[in-house]
Amino acid sequence: MKPTKPAPSQPLIELCNVTKTYSSEAGDFPALHGVNLQIQPGEFLGIVGKSGAGKSTLLNMITGVDDLTSGEVLYNQPGGETIPLHELDENDLALWRGRNMGVVYQSFQLLPMLTLLENVLIPMDLCGLYHPRESRARALELLRLVEIEEHAHKLPAFISGGQQQRVAIARALANDPPILVADEPTGSLDSVTADHIFDMFEKLVERGKTIIMVTHDNSLAPRFTRHLVIADGEIQAVETIQ
Ligand SMILES: Nc1ncnc2c1ncn2[C@@H]1O[C@H](COP(=O)(O)OP(=O)(O)OP(=O)(O)O)[C@@H](O)[C@H]1O
Ligand SMILES: [Mg+2]
Repeated sequence: MKPTKPAPSQPLIELCNVTKTYSSEAGDFPALHGVNLQIQPGEFLGIVGKSGAGKSTLLNMITGVDDLTSGEVLYNQPGGETIPLHELDENDLALWRGRNMGVVYQSFQLLPMLTLLENVLIPMDLCGLYHPRESRARALELLRLVEIEEHAHKLPAFISGGQQQRVAIARALANDPPILVADEPTGSLDSVTADHIFDMFEKLVERGKTIIMVTHDNSLAPRFTRHLVIADGEIQAVETIQ
């Protein structure tokens, strides 16, 4: 009997003809032009492109932190239903992200009135996946993982940009989300610390997470499973590495 071809795995996230136009007093600016993208479970997807190319805009469409202008962003729950993320309201989206997706913002977005430890606790408090005693130990462990535990009780204003970036990574991992979206997560780090973080991401992918990461570091390209180049709001090239 002829072997049957295995069914292609269902993408975890699908972007269908996604456009984003920013409107301001200066007029309309089309930042994404009909992007189609399928992200498979377990991928380590790298996104590169010049400053202003639309990388952060693309991530904002995937995470839903900003509204798209047209198109669809679908999340295919493994073994379950398809959720149109672009149709969820802000509360439902925040809850969905809390359980499914950690986000490392390019500008970190730590809450300035809270200590580093409290910043990492927020996603856990929001979702209630961990008992409060467990969540505190977990937050400290995550801060230790990014080598910043000794500063746990400081406010973000009293640590460096690279240290804030590491707290943002710890916070994104707080609920152990299956998907991590990271916008230049090593951009403020020295090369040794950046390597340490990238190694950590590789281990997370080995353990089954899906990671979507923007970087300016072209030397990382061979270490992604797939690598997109974005220019002028369009995907120019897709290179599959493995
Ligand atoms: N809120 C906004 N209002 C108007 N235009 C915007 C806004 N945010 C971004 N843009 C424009 O959209 C384009 C894409 O911006 P985006 O932030 O996605 O670029 P990027 O590839 O992430 O750049 P960088 O590498 O510098 O972070 C840029 O031309 C930018 O000026
Ligand atoms: Mg950006």
